[in-house]
Amino acid sequence: MTALHFFLFTLFTVSVHAHNITEILNQFPEYSVFNSYLSQTKLADEINSRETITVLALPNGAMSAVVDKHPLSVIKNVLSLHVLLDYFDGTKLHKISDGTTTSTTLYQTTGNAHGNVGSVNITDLKGGKVGFGSAIPNSPLASTYTKSVKQIQYNISVLEVSAPIIAPGILTAPAPSGDFNITGALEKAGCKTFASLLVKSGVLKTYQTAIEKGLTIFAPNDEAFKGAKVPDLSELSSADVVSLLQYHAIPSYTPIGTLKTKKDPISTLATNGASKYDLKASTEGDQVTLDTGVDSSRIASTVIDSTPFCIFTVDSVLLPEELYAAPETSPTPAPAPAPEASSPTPMMSPPAPPTSSPAGSPADSPTADSENSTAKKKNAGNVNTPALLKALLTVSVSVIVSVYLF
Ligand SMILES: *[C@@H]1O[C@H](CO)[C@@H](O)[C@H](O)[C@H]1NC(C)=O
Ligand SMILES: *[C@@H]1O[C@H](CO)[C@@H](O)[C@H](O)[C@H]1NC(C)=O
Ligand SMILES: *[C@@H]1O[C@H](CO)[C@@H](O)[C@H](O)[C@H]1NC(C)=O
Ligand SMILES: *[C@@H]1O[C@H](CO)[C@@H](O)[C@H](O)[C@H]1NC(C)=O
Ligand SMILES: *[C@@H]1O[C@H](CO)[C@@H](O)[C@H](O)[C@H]1NC(C)=O
Repeated sequence: MTALHFFLFTLFTVSVHAHNITEILNQFPEYSVFNSYLSQTKLADEINSRETITVLALPNGAMSAVVDKHPLSVIKNVLSLHVLLDYFDGTKLHKISDGTTTSTTLYQTTGNAHGNVGSVNITDLKGGKVGFGSAIPNSPLASTYTKSVKQIQYNISVLEVSAPIIAPGILTAPAPSGDFNITGALEKAGCKTFASLLVKSGVLKTYQTAIEKGLTIFAPNDEAFKGAKVPDLSELSSADVVSLLQYHAIPSYTPIGTLKTKKDPISTLATNGASKYDLKASTEGDQVTLDTGVDSSRIASTVIDSTPFCIFTVDSVLLPEELYAAPETSPTPAPAPAPEASSPTPMMSPPAPPTSSPAGSPADSPTADSENSTAKKKNAGNVNTPALLKALLTVSVSVIVSVYLF
């Protein structure tokens, strides 16, 4: 390998794997508790998916104040206050203009934070110390900068601080439980139709019992049930309606940062031995899109993100291949002239890993793995030529880029 090749190789590797906070902290056993909770709360995924970030690491001794007696949802909120959405190293901390500033943190992005509860105050104190506290006025600057741990310049900086930064009220938020009022939250978020379907079908109970072990719900908003492409649920057997609704949740805590890391198909509550009922997630910038193989839907908003439970709203009803034929293999033409423009991109997802499911993917063999193919009569989406072209172009550009780099 020539020096140039080596350089290009390194450059390429670095830019692909921007940073991995778990790996960085693994080298420092004094932060093992902090590191473990970053993984348990999935904050690690969120940190890895961002650039220009500062992690204020707490040594093991300081973590006990956070983890003792508090549920994971509260621990996550506290730790997310320790992730600044800006890059600070030791030098920059000591050069803050006017000696004081505030920085937004990950907590501000969760939707749980009101006002500037999600910001921290950083103040250059007398005697060369730098103090951290909540940005809520008159909060104590009870945490101080002790040392620099690791920097990857302008991407991620890890600094040690002496004590947890606690925002007012953050320790007393209730944890979600089986008693959490899912339908109430859905109704407030503009998902009344979905909420009433959950009640009528009994699937609400399934959701409710799944919360404590980890649950993520993708709730179509009321508009999603009004569009031209909406399936006629009365054509489905009640068993299929149950599957359709179970398809709108995954049995694990998967907040947005974690969805961004998912390259493989994701199993849903509807998945069982016989039927895949899976989804794929793709990311463009901050936008995460779910692809069912039939159609795709944007994640529109976060209703609640409270470990181990979250609810997102989505723009369209998620149509599983098991109930709705994939567009290319539709046995009958679409019943209504579906508006072309609204069928974005089942093709924009990351390149599919070679799936060699023994049953064969439904796209290849439309009826092979469905016990009841009579329900598969709706063609819900059209793959239009521009989308295909776009996908081909994307693939060729990546090939050109990698050839160029090597
Ligand atoms: C910082 O992150 C960007 C984007 O992930 C990457 O292109 C760049 O190479 C990274 N810089 C370093 C020094 O790792
Ligand atoms: C980050 O590093 C940890 C520990 O080495 C590893 O288990 C994990 O898969 C890595 N994450 C990513 C996204 O590469
Ligand atoms: C930070 O907190 C200190 C002490 O409460 C206060 O004097 C200062 O104005 C705060 N800084 C900012 C930028 O709010
Ligand atoms: C949940 O909230 C809805 C709407 O706010 C309300 O009608 C319903 O009674 C609540 N259910 C429970 C079990 O509290
Ligand atoms: C299959 O679908 C048809 C029509 O929707 C329905 O009448 C029938 O009961 C279904 N069979 C099974 C096994 O679900």
